[in-house]
Amino acid sequence: MEQISVIIDCDTGIDDMVSFAVTLSSKKLNILGITTVAGNQKIDITTYNTLNGLALMGREDIPLARGEEKPLYRPLRDAGYIHGNGGLGEYYFKNPTSKQPDKLDAVHFIYETLMKSEEKVVILALAPLTNIAKLLMQYPEVKERIEKIIFMGGSIRSGNPTPVSTFNVLVDPEAARLVMKSGISFHMCPMDTTKDAYLTDEDIEHIGKINNPVAQMNYQLCKFYNDTVNKNNNAHNRFKGLCIHDLCTAVYLTNPELFTTVKYYGDVETKGELTTGFTMLDYEDILRKSDEEKNVTYINSVNRDGILKIYFETLKSFE
Ligand code: BDR
Ligand code: CA
Repeated sequence: MEQISVIIDCDTGIDDMVSFAVTLSSKKLNILGITTVAGNQKIDITTYNTLNGLALMGREDIPLARGEEKPLYRPLRDAGYIHGNGGLGEYYFKNPTSKQPDKLDAVHFIYETLMKSEEKVVILALAPLTNIAKLLMQYPEVKERIEKIIFMGGSIRSGNPTPVSTFNVLVDPEAARLVMKSGISFHMCPMDTTKDAYLTDEDIEHIGKINNPVAQMNYQLCKFYNDTVNKNNNAHNRFKGLCIHDLCTAVYLTNPELFTTVKYYGDVETKGELTTGFTMLDYEDILRKSDEEKNVTYINSVNRDGILKIYFETLKSFE
């Protein structure tokens, strides 16, 4: 099978960790590296969590590079109120790995990896786009080597944590704008769609019955996430269950047949009084942009049953 070469950029983070269950064990992917960024938590924490996730899932062979500690031009606003002080709720690694990040930082690691790769590489971005924006600012020539960027974030309707902005855009809107308008094929897995890839309370209990350390970690993560999202986000009004945004986005890479897409012209509000971080998507074609100008492949539907089947089967495979 021809594998997809990919670099994963993340801010681990509960749903980032949940998504690793699928990506790290997928035979369809050739993961060239994982890079971390500040987002859900500070960079030390997202890096520690990712290194230990790789160890727990038996993938310490994948290089990890530590990325930017704050957004391009703003202070970091983290999501500790959702993901906890350690970024993984009340889950703590019993025997932390001694492995350290690569000697290169994320920007230089991605640059070197792209330049060395014989195939074009997909970037799966599950976090604020700071690393990727810095990469493109410093090394614009890498655009040719990127097959596409698949990004979790943005929306037409569903904001979180503000009514109109999603976390991964709101944290670093200037970075999101730069990447979205870079000319690289940009696939957006928006909250409008990830909210349809949800776990019910029964689904979470089902995970709890799978008896291996990875599934048990996923169970604890999802339980905590469900509680904090319900407490903080008024989620019972808006969501049908626990939305596992990053997992949904990762499955778009491994199983695109479970999704549909449409092309829009898009941009990001960076200076709004009320709307900073809003992703403006011209879904009614008001601006009459040509097909070439439509820069966003917007993922507009997901097969929830398909995602859950893959997720549960993968968790069982760690037994
Ligand atoms: C996104 O923001 C982060 O909190 C999650 O990890 C996910 O990537 C959801 O808005
Ligand atoms: Ca994330």
